[in-house]
Amino acid sequence: MSRTPFVAGNWKMFKTVGDAEMFISGLLPLVSSTEGIEVAICVPFTTLGAMVDSTRGSRVQVFAQNMHQEAEGAFTGEVSAPMLSDLDVHGVVLGHSERRELFGETDAALAEKVPAALEAGLRVILCCGETEAERDAGEMETKLRRQVEAGLSQVPAGRLADVVIAYEPIWAIGTGKVATPEQAQEACAFVRGVVAGIDPAAAEAVRIQYGGSVKPENTAELLALPDIDGALVGGASLDPASFAAIVEAGRS
Ligand code: 13P
Repeated sequence: MSRTPFVAGNWKMFKTVGDAEMFISGLLPLVSSTEGIEVAICVPFTTLGAMVDSTRGSRVQVFAQNMHQEAEGAFTGEVSAPMLSDLDVHGVVLGHSERRELFGETDAALAEKVPAALEAGLRVILCCGETEAERDAGEMETKLRRQVEAGLSQVPAGRLADVVIAYEPIWAIGTGKVATPEQAQEACAFVRGVVAGIDPAAAEAVRIQYGGSVKPENTAELLALPDIDGALVGGASLDPASFAAIVEAGRS
């Protein structure tokens, strides 16, 4: 099965509205004619509205970086899936390791967030990944299986393939230490196998991104691997030229 590659830039907590507008006016001309690949930017809540407006009619999708599982309620400081849909946001990144490790995001919450996002018409990038200590202790597969199974546990059967899974080894995030092609392929193939355990047809269709120190120079090699269908890019997505070079390198 051929899967359309999908490259997403995760800005994390970077860029004011002014910075974001500068970025997007630089990026759009660079990617406007790039065919055969989907492109998204995952931006802070404060820049979502401006980025949705500035990308309207373009090929760049706009994603949030988190949301609450409930549609509304007394949850001070939180934002819900219907609120994101209301802004015409396309999707949301869920379960990033920084949210899990720094802000107490749990598999139980993610089990509710993923279907809540889909129900509101949002696309989902569900993140998973192991620490260096877990990898060294031979616990990578257990961790990935637990995270992926929990995140997909309440997704309706027909919607599984709508979830994009990002494999991001925590030891490769922001460290410049990219996984070797063998390590990245092995982990992404394992993740696809976990999805196959739930639904074999969905496993063929589901797209799996690699994330962790992706740069223009290493994108083509990673995305050529059989079980890697895209990239989730942190630092190198903050500059339009570098992000556009990654998009170009990721085309099938
Ligand atoms: P870097 O590309 O900066 O390593 O970050 C990866 C990441 O966490 C994307 O979500």
